[in-house]
Amino acid sequence: MSLFATLLQPVLFALDPETAHSLSIVALKAGIVPPCPGVDDPRLKVSIAGIDFPNPVGLAAGYDKNAEVPDAMLARGFGFAEIGTVTPRPQSGNPKPRIFRLASQHGVINRLGFNNEGHAAALARLNERQARQGIVGVNIGANKDSADFTADYVTGLETFYEAADYFTANISSPNTPGLRNLQAGDALAALLGRLLEKREQLASRSGVRRPVFLKIAPDLDNTQMDEISGAIRDAALDGLIVSNTTVSRAGLGAGSHTGETGGLSGRPLFERSTIVLARMRERLPGLPIIGVGGVEDAATAVAKLEAGANAVQLYTAMIFAGPGIAARINRELVEVLDRSGLSAIGELTGRKKREWAQKKLPGEA
Ligand SMILES: Cc1cc2nc3c(=O)[nH]c(=O)nc-3n(C[C@H](O)[C@H](O)[C@H](O)COP(=O)(O)O)c2cc1C
Repeated sequence: MSLFATLLQPVLFALDPETAHSLSIVALKAGIVPPCPGVDDPRLKVSIAGIDFPNPVGLAAGYDKNAEVPDAMLARGFGFAEIGTVTPRPQSGNPKPRIFRLASQHGVINRLGFNNEGHAAALARLNERQARQGIVGVNIGANKDSADFTADYVTGLETFYEAADYFTANISSPNTPGLRNLQAGDALAALLGRLLEKREQLASRSGVRRPVFLKIAPDLDNTQMDEISGAIRDAALDGLIVSNTTVSRAGLGAGSHTGETGGLSGRPLFERSTIVLARMRERLPGLPIIGVGGVEDAATAVAKLEAGANAVQLYTAMIFAGPGIAARINRELVEVLDRSGLSAIGELTGRKKREWAQKKLPGEA
């Protein structure tokens, strides 16, 4: 049992989830959480959209919404850290309580609603980063009362262009009414058109072409997946992140908080998000894809890669296992590589995409 499991987790779990989250950020900022040296093995390296990642295990958006601890997370073995979602103006989000642990199922339901300090605060912190070593992505979104959601994404790109290693356009949070409508074919084509045009302008001005990824929901039927793939094929998008949290409760066992409104993450999301990932991989063979949803160990990370991911991210499993989780998964991945004789982790990508794509989504007819 780790120090986290025996000592820290019981303390944090005695607190309400949002207080526990704030406390963990304070502890990381204060440097009182011991660092976990990363795993340095060339076989773990992956190259995605022109960026070289030291290992394929990233921190998903939502933990470090305000860019307070990207370097602390990188120092704990994550191959990359995604801050945000940030919106142009600060906003307080939905009324509390708005995060719920489904402890027996290792899941979480949240309906935070993009609570964040806004672009200026996050940018100031990113600009203060001393070494600027390690890969930090910026996840951009829209203010809930914005008159033009698309304009907010374009502003995000402009604001963070110098400070980010990559961008994620998050159009899949279930907690901002209307946001997921941007996933519809025409709306998505318009968003990608404006966003990527701005990126080309910024790239030619600065000489650096920052990759832009799109983060999608796991609550898509095959027709919606076709529409999204069509819009992506017509645009110069650099990659997909699959997926955000689910609004579905299909297949979720009984337990406390299961009836709460919001997005479900963690173990109960694993199967659904991995199937959607494989179906998108089949539709977009050459596109970089980052797999997210229920990654908690080497087995789940390997499954995501085999379903078609080039790298993975996680958040919820860290709530249950502590910040050493990335280093542990990477150590386990090295063991997988040793056993299988593979020379690079990327050789797993897509090996079982057909099997995964053909599975039925929970609740699918
Ligand atoms: C409390 C909480 C807050 C989140 N906030 C965001 C967010 O601001 N932006 C975003 O793109 N995803 C957000 N997510 C979704 C995660 O990035 C991830 O896509 C999802 O939780 C599935 O991964 P997991 O099962 O490893 O948690 C949030 C998730 C949780 C649990």
